[in-house]
Amino acid sequence: MGTGLSSGVDRTGERGQVAAAPVVFRRMREEDLAQVADIEHASFTMAWSVHTFRSLLQREDAECWVALDEQGRVLGYAVLWWALDQAELANIAVHPETRRRRIGARLLEHALECAAARGIREVYLEVRRSNEVAASMYRRRGFVEVGVRNNYYDLPREDALVLRRALD
Ligand SMILES: CC(C)(COP(=O)(O)OP(=O)(O)OC[C@H]1O[C@@H](n2cnc3c(N)ncnc32)[C@H](O)[C@@H]1OP(=O)(O)O)[C@@H](O)C(=O)NCCC(=O)NCCS
Repeated sequence: MGTGLSSGVDRTGERGQVAAAPVVFRRMREEDLAQVADIEHASFTMAWSVHTFRSLLQREDAECWVALDEQGRVLGYAVLWWALDQAELANIAVHPETRRRRIGARLLEHALECAAARGIREVYLEVRRSNEVAASMYRRRGFVEVGVRNNYYDLPREDALVLRRALD
């Protein structure tokens, strides 16, 4: 995408992972939405609109976070919504040029910590059956498959795996 976001990272580690990028996490704001939408469209065929993200910022049963680099550029985001003590990790994505720098894993861990702090006891999510990178990231952080939603996704039509993690 030619944004220059990938500069300055040069060390390769296990499984091709490069050094963790220095990032800060904070709640998503209106000013982030254009960059969030760019990442969303680069990441998903069924992309959420800016309007969807904006409406989530108003909701009291949802929380959205961004990961920012030192220049304040948005590198990724995560969205959690909940009812009572159950939550759903509804979205998570990282800019294609800055993947494999532990931003996704740290966003996920940040979302789980925030969920636990809210008293949430279990977190669910859906993931395309073919999305092995995401599914393995979740499984390595304690998520377990609890169901399948047949033909849940379009573009292309595909099953969703439903994963769950209990929070202590
Ligand atoms: C899934 C996604 C958020 C991961 O973000 P990321 O910043 O690249 O991931 P990280 O660098 O934190 O790596 C997380 C784990 O996945 C592994 N991984 C990441 N990319 C990988 C790849 N291309 N191949 C193999 N393993 C990979 C890492 O080694 C790491 O392993 P660990 O679980 O043992 O720590 C990112 O790939 C993405 O935005 N994908 C498109 C959107 C998407 O699919 N979202 C999930 C919807 S359910």
